[in-house]
Order: sequence, then C-alpha cells, then structure tokens
Amino acid sequence: MKVFRDQASLVEYIAQLKKENKTIGFAPTMGALHQGHMSLYSIAKKENDIIVASVFVNPTQFNNLEDLEKYPRTEENDLLLLENIGVDIAYLPRIQDIYPTETKSKSYDFGGIENEMEGAARPGHFDGVGTVVSELLRQVQPDNAYFGEKDFQQLAIIRKLVEIKNLKVNIHGAPIFRAENGLALSSRNARLTEKEKEEALILYQTLSQVKEWFPTMDYAEIKEKVAQIFENTPYELEYFLIADEKTLKELEEKSPEAHYRAFLVVWISGVRLIDNMAC
Ligand code: PAF
Repeated sequence: MKVFRDQASLVEYIAQLKKENKTIGFAPTMGALHQGHMSLYSIAKKENDIIVASVFVNPTQFNNLEDLEKYPRTEENDLLLLENIGVDIAYLPRIQDIYPTETKSKSYDFGGIENEMEGAARPGHFDGVGTVVSELLRQVQPDNAYFGEKDFQQLAIIRKLVEIKNLKVNIHGAPIFRAENGLALSSRNARLTEKEKEEALILYQTLSQVKEWFPTMDYAEIKEKVAQIFENTPYELEYFLIADEKTLKELEEKSPEAHYRAFLVVWISGVRLIDNMAC
C-alpha cells in the first residue's frame, strides 16, 4: 500500500494511473476505522482496479470544538486495517492540502435538504462536508466513490454536490454495518465503554420498534411512544423523526409511492450517536 501525505505526490501518482486507464474507487474517512469502513472497501474492490482511502479529520464540519478535539485518532491502526483489506493508496493530507489559504468552508445550496435534520442540528456541518468532499474528489479523481448509509443525509448531500458540480463520479451508498447485537458501527463508539456500548443498543431497539409500528400506527403516536422510551432513561433524545427518503422532509401524510426512513439522534455519556432505518 502506498501512503501519501501531501497533495502533490498523490496527484502525480493518480495521473500515472489514469494514463494506464485504471479505474479508481474511493472512500473518504475521518479515521478511527472500523468494519463499517472496511465494508466500503470490500465493495469497492469488486468494482475498481485501484482502491483509494483518505483519512482526514475535517475541522470545518464540526460545529462543536469539544467534539473535534475528542474525535478518536488512531492512525497506526487505521493504516494496518487499510493495508489488510487491500487498499492500494492511503491519502493522509495535511491541513494545507485541503485548505490552502484558510480553514473555512464554502457555502452551498443543496436545494433545501441541507436544512433538514443534521443540517438544522449542526449549523454549517454540510458546508464543511461539501467543501472537503469536493476537494478530495478533485484530487483523487475517482470513477466510483462510496459512502455509508449511516450518514444517510450526508449521502444525499454528496449526490446533490456531484449533480450541482457536474462531476464525473458515480456515488454508491452502502448499507449500515451493524454489530451482531444491532449496534451501528461508528467511530464515535470508540469513546464508549463496553457498558455504554450495551446501553447504545437503545438506538437500534427503538428503530426496530418504530419499523414494526409504522405500517399500522399514527406517526404522532409513534413519536409519543419514542419520547416515552427515553423519558425513563439517562439518555438524551436529541431528535427522532420519520422522513421521506428523497426529500428528507418530515412525514406529514403517508403517500403510498414514497419511501420512509426513521432517524434517531441520542446522547449517551456525552457522546452523540446517530442511527437510521428504512421503515
Ligand atoms: O463520513 C465521514 O467520515 C465524513 O463526513 C467524510 C465524508 C469523510 C468527510 O469528512
């Protein structure tokens, strides 16, 4: 596996691969890699000649300094995992390779989806994601790029970004990778003790309940029941809602043509966890 730590050497190597007509599959990450990330590379390996991974904790997508500072950083282990799964290129840019002048995001109009859910809860978050992803796509020039459905709204934002900027890359979404007990894998889980990881199962359990209720129960009643689940716990429910998978707008009246998904954000011992499930 080749490791590049600056833009110039990466871009030079990519240009060489392009000359050889190699197809490139890419999945960007913020490190603290786990099996969820690895599942992206496994899919990518089947569909591309060369696999590129990036590890960059992007400061502009954090709206909370503490979250940025506490974000787990496990570079040595990340490189081992990438090598073992068969990634060809690991790109670990410096800050100036992504933000040459100032560490500031561009602002985007994603047609409104940026104002729903995570966009409302984390102002500026999707501008930060859009900025770093468009810069990484420009440098890596992949044919295919892979993102997990755990950040379902992010995936929609990136599809929109590619459409707006008319980029020649296919965006692929990959299903949420869950532990055997249902816990969605997340880099933030590294900040939880084993006991807290057990407690975090409340996200999966609640979403599974909602999926069961959804065909026959009123949305208002489902919301009430979810609020009740959390009332008797020490965990803080930041938001729960069911939205249209396309528009990401909260459900008002069920339409037989639409597909819906339940979204949940919960704080457990100071860690913000998110999960979602089609319903
Ligand atoms: O999903 C992530 O890890 C990040 O948001 C991404 C896409 C790597 C951009 O920093």
